[in-house]
Amino acid sequence: MTEGLSLQTIAEAGDRLRGIIHRTPIVTTHSEPWPLGAELRLKAENFQVTGSFKIRGAFNKIAVLEQGSVQGVVTASSGNHGQAVAWAARHFGLAAIVVVPKTAPQSKIHAAQSYGAEVEYCGTTSQERLERAELIAKERGYAFVPPYDDPEVMSGQGTIGLEIVEDWPEVEVVLVPIGGGGLISGIATAIKSIRPDILVIGVEAAGAAKAWTSRLRHQRIILDHTDTIADGIKTLALGVLTYPIVEQSVDHLLTVNDAAIMQAVRWLLFRHKLLAEPSGAATVAAFMTNPEWFSGRRAVALLSGGNIDPNVLRSIL
Ligand SMILES: Cc1ncc(COP(=O)(O)O)c(C=O)c1O
Repeated sequence: MTEGLSLQTIAEAGDRLRGIIHRTPIVTTHSEPWPLGAELRLKAENFQVTGSFKIRGAFNKIAVLEQGSVQGVVTASSGNHGQAVAWAARHFGLAAIVVVPKTAPQSKIHAAQSYGAEVEYCGTTSQERLERAELIAKERGYAFVPPYDDPEVMSGQGTIGLEIVEDWPEVEVVLVPIGGGGLISGIATAIKSIRPDILVIGVEAAGAAKAWTSRLRHQRIILDHTDTIADGIKTLALGVLTYPIVEQSVDHLLTVNDAAIMQAVRWLLFRHKLLAEPSGAATVAAFMTNPEWFSGRRAVALLSGGNIDPNVLRSIL
């Protein structure tokens, strides 16, 4: 049990988020010959405020901080978390600084700026950005908002688990993508607290299989490199807090290659008119490429985000 993460903290996060973010739909799928008797539905967080689930954790964290005397917030993510922090900070009238690599795509920088954040460029490695963000936090008295290894962030992400079980109680398997592991830690904690019979399956890119490798070796492994089109789950390691939760609460791990992810992006777009980014489509890729796990089962695949870079979308199409 991780301190600060429980069914109660997830329910409290749900109260803070109610009326602020969308209750995203669970969309039915059609027209495919799925494995015998399988049914697939999609939790469409690509429709969420800021285009991904990340607003849930960022908003919950900043809402708690805001009760103190924080002046502003800072984070080191150029991706969906940076956008979410920018949006939530603006909601509370707080300043936000997002530290991004010199190589960050313009589309992501513009999104964070459009939500009112100040963007600061720093180096190319995540270590450089993290150090810079921590320095800014110290100098200006801002709070650092971690992307995943934080109980309030995980509690916010866990609200997805509650919504899935409430909106489709017949569900038997839930597929969740894994980057640093905050998303699946929150969801698995929620689901296992109320419906331990539901299987929670984590999905990783084959080129960034840190959870799978860690499970195999019975310790938290830090990969020496990653290689995948799915930038949101392209993470070298699970967090110090998320690793034990993944080990305890996630029933099974599947990996998917980039070809399967791209196929899933196309299928979602053309068959269901849903635009998912590669990290968001990985769960659908796992469903499609592992039929033995799903025959006769009712499954939800989490479409965790839709913020796809225009150049990546062009190359996938
Ligand atoms: C679209 C998308 N899906 C999944 C993830 C993975 O979330 P976590 O790092 O909490 O495991 C991320 C993280 O940035 C993301 O942006």
